Amino acid sequence: MRSRAPSVPPTPPAVATSTPRAWWREAVFYQVYPRSFADADGDGEGDLRGVVERMPYLASLGIDALWLCPFYPSPQVDGGYDVADHCDVDPRFGTLADADALVAAAHDAGIRVTIDLVPNHCSSEHAWFQAAVVAGRGSAQRALFHFVDGRGPGGDEPPTNWRSVFGGPSWTRVQEPDGSPGQWYFHLFAPEQPDFNWGNPAVLAEFERILRFWLDRGIDGFRIDVADGLVKDTTWPDTADGSPVILKDARSPVHDVYRALRAVLDSYGGDRVAVVETGAPDDVVALFLRPDEMHLAFNFRFLKAPWRSADIREAVRSSLAANAIVGAPTTWVTDNHDNTRSVTRYATDARLEGDYVPETRPAAGSATDLALGVRRARAAALLLLALPGAAFIYAGQELGLPNVDDLPDDVLQDPVFIRTGGRVRGRDGCRVPFPWSGERPPFGFSPAGTATWLPVPSAWRSLTAEAQDADRSSMLSLYRRALALRRVAREDGTDLVVDVNIGEPARPLPAGAVLLASTDEPLHGLLPTDTAVVVATTP
Ligand code: NOJ
Repeated sequence: MRSRAPSVPPTPPAVATSTPRAWWREAVFYQVYPRSFADADGDGEGDLRGVVERMPYLASLGIDALWLCPFYPSPQVDGGYDVADHCDVDPRFGTLADADALVAAAHDAGIRVTIDLVPNHCSSEHAWFQAAVVAGRGSAQRALFHFVDGRGPGGDEPPTNWRSVFGGPSWTRVQEPDGSPGQWYFHLFAPEQPDFNWGNPAVLAEFERILRFWLDRGIDGFRIDVADGLVKDTTWPDTADGSPVILKDARSPVHDVYRALRAVLDSYGGDRVAVVETGAPDDVVALFLRPDEMHLAFNFRFLKAPWRSADIREAVRSSLAANAIVGAPTTWVTDNHDNTRSVTRYATDARLEGDYVPETRPAAGSATDLALGVRRARAAALLLLALPGAAFIYAGQELGLPNVDDLPDDVLQDPVFIRTGGRVRGRDGCRVPFPWSGERPPFGFSPAGTATWLPVPSAWRSLTAEAQDADRSSMLSLYRRALALRRVAREDGTDLVVDVNIGEPARPLPAGAVLLASTDEPLHGLLPTDTAVVVATTP
């Protein structure tokens, strides 16, 4: 596969609405999972001050923007995606002043800041939900959520047979204020994550307020969690396999929500951006990227493609084609906090399976070869950064971290593990704290001797940022080099070619090529199986 590196002029000055050459169209976003990035206060969990302290490292990578996963007050039932207050910072991560300091430090370093917006649900400890439970049947407070009477004698059966994404039913029953068994509320995810009723205009008004709260603090945009999930079929039909019925087609009111949120973003200068999370097919994803809706969407088709040229080629072709119809750039992503890390995924040719998120975990018992996974992940890195559009890097991807699949059961925290009775191990293995430096765990993530929220493997000694920093052949050096070349191509309009060999026999390098980066060496004029190069072609 060959791919021409993007070449667009430098970022234009801020304007009130998105410009054709807006920064986000070609941006490289770096995803920080705050709990796992850097622990400044020494409590074994990462925090916002930790991110500020590591800003020089982030600047040295050459990224354009950060995406911070949720840091809001939360009982942490689902890693912070159970938000109790959308306009504050959880004390475990710091304070609002720390958030402001982070934005200021990032902007000083020339890095934009985007944050997670979680509009589908909140925590069962959110003030609105607590009030709804107490207010009782038919109240305005309950109308902010989906409270529905049960079926059968005494309303003892849930309103539908729908299953939750994390396993188990998607309905939980409350006790009415008089102590009697009461209504059921809907939750697409854990029972501690009640879904908002987006059919109620008060919910939109609240999210417009939340958007403004953060935009006023200088945030450059949002990553929108479960963006396509907001509108359910509230005739509540049973389904053959228990899947919830979510309305996301072109006529769904969910698109009116995004038109309204877009108007808020556009009322601020600086090309603020919104990135939608949706696992829908490419043509449905594109609906959310129409010019008056959101800007970017994660390309999960690309993430889930196994390391086979036909699959990767088709993922690239199909997502580019679908987005071209609405004039939106495509994004490229191989790793995030919900999926088995790519080094481990690419380490097997076996069919990929799993429950959350499906298809991303190597089948149990399949042969894995981590050296092969690293080799392929290096080639994938050059491909990721060469394809036209925006790219996402998940913290630790640039170090080539593997998934940690042997965490002891008693440290696992993902509700997936708990709600499937341990049948599915869940996502903790891709959330292990970042190894910064030193000889033993926690490798500078926390002060020496601290027990971190998930243990860091001692085998990561050779993978720390410090260990890779000066090693020209390391994954970190490859990422830095690729990001620097991408920037050159973007700013100077230099034409670069990335040639990637995905599982094919070795073949000659492009004729007349000047080699600028390579995932393997020496090359002897050939591009071996599972390698990639960046070259300048002589005219
Ligand atoms: C997607 C998030 O990325 C994931 O971590 C979370 O569990 C679900 N949405 C529910 O909010």
